[in-house]
Amino acid sequence: MMMKVGVMGVGGYSGEELVRLLLKHPQVEMCCLQARVEKPTPLSKVLPSLGENNDFVCENYSPEAMAEGCDLVFLALPHTVSMEAASTVLKAGKKVIDLSADFRLKTAPLYEKAYKTKHLHPELLQEAVYGLPEFFREKIKKTRLVANPGCYPTAVLLGSLPLFREKKSREAFFIADAKSGFTGAGRKQVSEMRLSESGENFKAYRVAEHQHVPEMESILKEVLDLDVKLMFTPHLLPISRGILSTHYFCIPEKTSEEELRNTFQSFYQEEPFVRVLGAGELPEIKNVLHTNFCEIAVRVDPERKTAIVIVVIDNLMKGASGQAVQNFNLLFGFQETEGLLS
Ligand SMILES: NC(=O)c1ccc[n+]([C@@H]2O[C@H](COP(=O)([O-])OP(=O)(O)OC[C@H]3O[C@@H](n4cnc5c(N)ncnc54)[C@H](OP(=O)(O)O)[C@@H]3O)[C@@H](O)[C@H]2O)c1
Repeated sequence: MMMKVGVMGVGGYSGEELVRLLLKHPQVEMCCLQARVEKPTPLSKVLPSLGENNDFVCENYSPEAMAEGCDLVFLALPHTVSMEAASTVLKAGKKVIDLSADFRLKTAPLYEKAYKTKHLHPELLQEAVYGLPEFFREKIKKTRLVANPGCYPTAVLLGSLPLFREKKSREAFFIADAKSGFTGAGRKQVSEMRLSESGENFKAYRVAEHQHVPEMESILKEVLDLDVKLMFTPHLLPISRGILSTHYFCIPEKTSEEELRNTFQSFYQEEPFVRVLGAGELPEIKNVLHTNFCEIAVRVDPERKTAIVIVVIDNLMKGASGQAVQNFNLLFGFQETEGLLS
């Protein structure tokens, strides 16, 4: 069965990636594309990279029009803009997958503290399901509102949850040292950052104050029923896309690398998009670029009683639009990998 689908925010990085994926998805009938345009504009003008072999047209924003024509709407909009659109689409009885942070936190005070702005639809926060399929698959299948995870949280949570779940850490604490290519910041911010200043450079940013920390800590709490504290430092890589995140955990003496690798391997053995690498292998961003795969390597430093878990994803795929399509497949009962394997 074909589903009628719409995308709001087509002109952004994740909107562009979504449209690229959805146009090839065998179960998708693309019904409505919206961007900030003064008049209906051919998609080939808004997204020239998709080529001219299509006759799709982008309209200006109207959540009402989206809701009328579509079974499900993807919101690739900035946070605060998404919440109003989501509410309108849901009221019309349609489903939403929101790529922004607007529904990832469970209470309005948590959201307002992290994003310094009021939540206009707190009544939807409890209902939204966090779209990390590896941990919320059954809930995702039944919801009408998916809060697609942030890119850093996807990498950090996939690299830490199995270890805590199997009680392999000595402390409810870990360090995540994460690096992202500059598309993680969105198209507008990238042009403002000026590539001349970001190229041939490498720097930390938002140290001890990144808005993704409450998201990660609250999902750790929800999954583990444990207050895990996270020390998170993001860095800006001089490459366009990809995340590499390195995590450090205190482990009991005599925990072997093989034991920890087995923990991750058995946890993810049925997962279509998570690969736990073998002994001696280390993940590299280029191996997951333009794919929905996440690669994980586990190392142990026995003298320091520390486990080191390294994770790579493509921020625009498993970190955003690829994961959104994975969630779409779950919502409508399609093969989870549909449209995501080339
Ligand atoms: N980039 C990533 O790696 C990533 C990963 C996970 C989640 N996300 C989330 O996904 C959402 C989209 O991210 P992105 O990176 O694709 O961002 P982006 O490149 O900046 O695109 C955002 C889009 O939103 C549109 N928009 C509509 N109303 C707007 C308004 N009032 N102010 C500003 N823009 C408005 C913009 O339209 P115009 O082009 O017409 O201005 C643009 O197309 C964000 O919430 C982001 O946090 C991004």
